[in-house]
Amino acid sequence: PKDNLIAPSILSADFARLGEEVDNVLKSGADIVHFDVMDNHYVPNLTIGPLVCEALRKHGVTAPIDVHLMVKPVDRIIPDFAKAGATYITFHPEASDHIDRSLQLIHDSGCKAGLVFNPATPLSYLEYVMDKVDMVLLMSVNPGFGGQKFIPGTLDKLRQARRLIDESGLDIRLEIDGGVKADNIGAIKAAGADTFVAGSAIFGAAKDSDPHHYDSIVAVM
Ligand code: DX5
Ligand code: ZN
Repeated sequence: PKDNLIAPSILSADFARLGEEVDNVLKSGADIVHFDVMDNHYVPNLTIGPLVCEALRKHGVTAPIDVHLMVKPVDRIIPDFAKAGATYITFHPEASDHIDRSLQLIHDSGCKAGLVFNPATPLSYLEYVMDKVDMVLLMSVNPGFGGQKFIPGTLDKLRQARRLIDESGLDIRLEIDGGVKADNIGAIKAAGADTFVAGSAIFGAAKDSDPHHYDSIVAVM
């Protein structure tokens, strides 16, 4: 498997031409499609659901789709996303009443599972479920919006998460989400991340819809 994966967040894509935008970033070398699901309840914004995930699959997207659930409750929507073609489904532990059950439900639905940690959420949520987690996603901004500034304290938390994962000996990806840019991705990688979400940095660089703009930003990352 590839050591470092780039996961463009389609939150910053042009939704009127979503299929084309996703094709272009994947052609430019991106690895995973990061799919931000917001419910105007757990976070103060409203985005996309299983219909859009299914539409991307029907459009011909075969790359992994990394569904980041910022919704509460969590469980009801999991089977719908599995049916819609999700590869990873990650959720915020505070949004689930039964974290172990939600992780199990994701696996039973045939997807890989992950926990997402807000900037102030402790990594201790991992303690008893580490073996049921395929992905640890650290938020380096507060969830809800693209284009925010990377919170520097996340670098220490990344180092802690990297240590926990290495000590466990388990095959768990360590993903970072929020404010990732060409000028901080080196430090983020050095702190232990192996999967990098970037929304505004990637799609914001392609304002004139020229796919070559994606090439340059994805290459720098
Ligand atoms: C924020 C989302 C992020 C967001 C990142 O709640 O989870 O995935 O799209 O956007 P940038 O890279 O612009 O910070
Ligand atoms: Zn996200």
